[in-house]
Amino acid sequence: TAPGNVAPTGALSNVVPTGALSNVAREASRRRAFAIIAHPDAGKTTLTEKLLLRGGAIQLAGQVRAKGDRRRTRSDWMKIEQDRGISVATSVMTFERDGVVFNLLDTPGHEDFSEDTYRTLTAVDAAVMVIDAAKGIEAQTRKLFEVCRLRDIPIITFINKMDRESRDVFELLDEIEKTLALDVTPAAWPVGSGRGFLGTYDMLEPALHLMAEGSEPVRLSGLDDSKIDELVPAADAEVLREGAELASAFPAFDLEAFRQGTMTPVYFGSALRDFGIGHLLEGLARFAPHPGARPADTRRVQPEEPALTGFVFKIQANMDPNHRDRVAFLRICSGRLEKGMRLRQTRTGKQVPVNAPLFFFAQDRQVAQEAWPGDVVGIANHGILRIGDTLTEGEQINFRGVPSFAPEILRRVMIEDAMVGKKLRTALEQLAEEGVVQLFRPLDGTPPVVGVVGALQLDVLAERLKAEYSVPSRYEATPWGMMRWVVSDDKAAMEKFRQSAPHDTAEDHDGALVAFFTSDWRRNRAEEEWPMLKFLKLREQH
Ligand code: G4P
Repeated sequence: TAPGNVAPTGALSNVVPTGALSNVAREASRRRAFAIIAHPDAGKTTLTEKLLLRGGAIQLAGQVRAKGDRRRTRSDWMKIEQDRGISVATSVMTFERDGVVFNLLDTPGHEDFSEDTYRTLTAVDAAVMVIDAAKGIEAQTRKLFEVCRLRDIPIITFINKMDRESRDVFELLDEIEKTLALDVTPAAWPVGSGRGFLGTYDMLEPALHLMAEGSEPVRLSGLDDSKIDELVPAADAEVLREGAELASAFPAFDLEAFRQGTMTPVYFGSALRDFGIGHLLEGLARFAPHPGARPADTRRVQPEEPALTGFVFKIQANMDPNHRDRVAFLRICSGRLEKGMRLRQTRTGKQVPVNAPLFFFAQDRQVAQEAWPGDVVGIANHGILRIGDTLTEGEQINFRGVPSFAPEILRRVMIEDAMVGKKLRTALEQLAEEGVVQLFRPLDGTPPVVGVVGALQLDVLAERLKAEYSVPSRYEATPWGMMRWVVSDDKAAMEKFRQSAPHDTAEDHDGALVAFFTSDWRRNRAEEEWPMLKFLKLREQH
């Protein structure tokens, strides 16, 4: 890693390296690209707002709230989704504090899980896991955590809503450790609880963060420091000393273990009361990694390399209904992006002009003059760019790791009017490229099948087919409950398999062979019968 990423102590400004680094290395090392993962209602929106406030983006907070209002019905959600302005503007939120540039990548907030979330997590270097102090680990927390684990994304835990009645701290920490099989280390320890919650004790660098004292921590020599007794009622001081003492049974913070994704430091606070946010941000700045080396097909790409590289992890279409414009979100992995550059799309060898790369602040889009590793920029295009595409200044490499997951909901898309068949195909292709659904063309020539991870994706697809392509459609059930990508070096065996099951096989959007199964039992049978084939649940794009 580049030097200077971790400051041993003190203010955030220590985190930004000085000295003889190239511009690219310096800019990369002060960037933190992260996402917030949480079960709905844990406080992701409120925390996002407060983080933006800290970053001096105060006027933008209302915008986030507008989007994050969780009491929405499905149709409300779709209306908002159609209002691309808001949706896109909050896809990436950039804010700066004490020289550290934070890029917060928004994951869809709706509880219906979508592939967008998976893909966004391929573009971050760290995640903040928000847990409701009264509820602990919930279903969605676990699901999102598993995606992070696939990529060993370092996770900082924020236990939120400490201002309310919460569960016992030891119990919460044990639950994280046991249900996620993750080492926990308290970075803070709460002082008081529920309505009597006063703040936290900093376990890594003795200090009291007290709600009453504002955002400035009171530095201490340790738990014995008599300042604690001056600032905190005797009973709370005693409970704190006891708890913090017992907490030493947890493993000490280990930066390497955190960076490898096997240990999470735990912070406590209240997003609503704007408490604990500064401490959390400090943790992100000090411990979360700056952009690191990224594996590509032929080599690992270092962020400080002068030539630009990046990959597309998300496409947002039809932002302006009058133009069939799409914005591709490019995560920069190395080098410097300059306005006006022409980049090479390595999948096709085509040149892609980047005349107006868009930077996203919580409310506004702005044309960026330049961008650096760890940044995300939007590139408007007419459908050339696809999810998973690598862009370079000319080098022929492909980044790995924007995954497709085998969808479990598989439906036929039916139309009443045969005349719009061609239009439907085009529309489905475009929407599949954008990642709205996965598209499969059955080899027996029957109507197209779409696959989704979350059922809400189906609603969005139908709505957009109608609104943007004037193709009314409906879904028909299929007998299948799962699919797998079929791969093998043995092409003859693939062909034989294909012929043996013409009604249960299809080609995906990229022409790869897939097999549909009605049950696990059937899939197991196929695996036994065709030992020379692999049936994959996860496929990297391209
Ligand atoms: P989400 O994005 O994760 O779904 O959660 P969101 O921030 O929308 O918060 C969900 C609810 O929890 C909101 O209340 C919010 O005010 C509340 N909340 C968030 N953080 C805290 C906290 O630290 N302490 C307490 N006590 N509450 C918190 P709501 O009543 O559903 O919405 P609203 O009417 O307050 O907007």
